[in-house]
Amino acid sequence: MRLTQYVHKCLEVILQPGDCVLDATAGNGFDSLKIAELIGQSGHLIAIDKQAIALNTTHKKLTEARLEADHEMILGDHAEILQKLSRPLGGALFNLGYLPGSDKSIISTPESTSAALNEIPRLLKEKGALFVTTYREHPGGAEESKCVQEWMMQQKAKGWYVQKLEPPCAPDRLSPILWIAAPLALDLPRINLP
Ligand SMILES: C[S@@+](CC[C@H](N)C(=O)[O-])C[C@H]1O[C@@H](n2cnc3c(N)ncnc32)[C@H](O)[C@@H]1O
Repeated sequence: MRLTQYVHKCLEVILQPGDCVLDATAGNGFDSLKIAELIGQSGHLIAIDKQAIALNTTHKKLTEARLEADHEMILGDHAEILQKLSRPLGGALFNLGYLPGSDKSIISTPESTSAALNEIPRLLKEKGALFVTTYREHPGGAEESKCVQEWMMQQKAKGWYVQKLEPPCAPDRLSPILWIAAPLALDLPRINLP
């Protein structure tokens, strides 16, 4: 099972209809679509991306699935946008890196990612969960991944539940890493890593 699929399985357990959920990197809209399905018409999705093409693709996916109601699409840097949010979140997703199928030089950065993550403890509900997927094979990816690891270790030291999933891969490759973090311990589905 791919890490992205596993995140969706976890969301099925964690999210409730009516939740407000953040997709901090909307990209091609696969995560936003899953979130919108789970939170239903009474829920509220906040989908952010710094590329208009990503938000257009995400909006199209939601519209085609007739799930566009009460969802916000915000164009900009998630670090700046999160500072202005105050609504409690049932979940937050960061699927970092670049937009697949688009300009691979437009990437998330350690500075912006750290600043955005710093807003999450203020926003996340006690029973909510944070999912952060990092990629290490593109230029700048390894540095960003290290920065996320440091942030996660700080949260763990503050008493948060923190889990790291790093699937095995070929010796000359670097696998993506999934971090799951939450104020309280989570009972998550099992995953069979290849
Ligand atoms: C791997 S893709 C996300 C995949 C997406 N969640 C999906 O389901 O298709 C990463 C996205 O993050 C966006 N991004 C990178 N840095 C960002 C930032 N600082 N603020 C907002 N979006 C950012 C990129 O434009 C790109 O679309």
